[in-house]
Amino acid sequence: MDIRVNLGDHSYDIIFEHGSLNKCASLINLNRKVFIVTDSGVPEIYAKTVNAQCKNGYVYTVPQGEGSKSIEVFKELLSKMLELGFGRKDCVVAVGGGVVGDLAGFTAASFMRGIDFYNIPTTVLSQVDSSIGGKTAVNLNGIKNIVGAFYQPKRVIIDPEVLNTLPERQISNGLAEAVKMSLTSDKELFDIFENEDHREKLDEIIYKSILIKKSVVEQDEKEKGLRRILNFGHTIGHAIESEEELNGLYHGECVALGMLPMCGKELRARLVNVLNKLNLKSSLDFNEESAFLALTHDKKGEGSSVKVTKVLTPGEFISEEMTFEEFRALLKIIKR
Ligand code: GLY
Repeated sequence: MDIRVNLGDHSYDIIFEHGSLNKCASLINLNRKVFIVTDSGVPEIYAKTVNAQCKNGYVYTVPQGEGSKSIEVFKELLSKMLELGFGRKDCVVAVGGGVVGDLAGFTAASFMRGIDFYNIPTTVLSQVDSSIGGKTAVNLNGIKNIVGAFYQPKRVIIDPEVLNTLPERQISNGLAEAVKMSLTSDKELFDIFENEDHREKLDEIIYKSILIKKSVVEQDEKEKGLRRILNFGHTIGHAIESEEELNGLYHGECVALGMLPMCGKELRARLVNVLNKLNLKSSLDFNEESAFLALTHDKKGEGSSVKVTKVLTPGEFISEEMTFEEFRALLKIIKR
């Protein structure tokens, strides 16, 4: 199934098809130098499958984890491309999750002021969210995504088959972002999470999430307004995530927690049930003071209050200004 993302000159298709990885040569022009970026946590077979379809491919594997979204690794990638004689007409292909997509995308955006970029996301999180919409970045001095570019891929290839090797915890981690989109934008998708078995409905959940993400990005590519709804639950989520070393949670797991205080009381109870079904936490023993400091640090550029998205009814969102002190009180809702 092809889903068109309409963005004028840089419109592109998302191919959502079982088995598409095995036929990506018919979906991407691989008849040139191809720099395939993957990470050590992604089953090797996926990058190899792409490389086997290239005449002149090179697989570059970075260590798994957020640490690879660094200026140092970014420089290593660019240097390797220079060494291999990549030119303006060659391309970069990301095969992996959000870290690989962000890093490879920014590399493609920067090399010779931008060469073709293709994304083949291999996690639920990247299939439903990060591979679509052209956000690319690396981190600097502990600040996430602070150096980057909006750079749309030429095509995104989503093969749900690759999820067969993904651990259950990673499936739920990605589904947290799909729950996020259902809450702000699609009541029917939230119904699926509430009333059906997500394992049986995985394709439909991914497809519906892609449609939401595409629609938001089409309306607000550069995040001047509407696209902020995709950050629903992320302000508190990021604050908890910054203690990642201490609590060991994944991004989606933190977003799941971060959404709870931003829902009305009645909906919050329904969301707790959904999170339980997905094996996602709805409360956590964390240090409120450090989370609050992380939150104020993260948002310090935005003045004394922050624009946030709240949801009272699935599928409908409201935007509000919230002071830091109000956030402090909200943290208690998820504190165990
Ligand atoms: N994941 C948030 C965005 O793409 O805007």
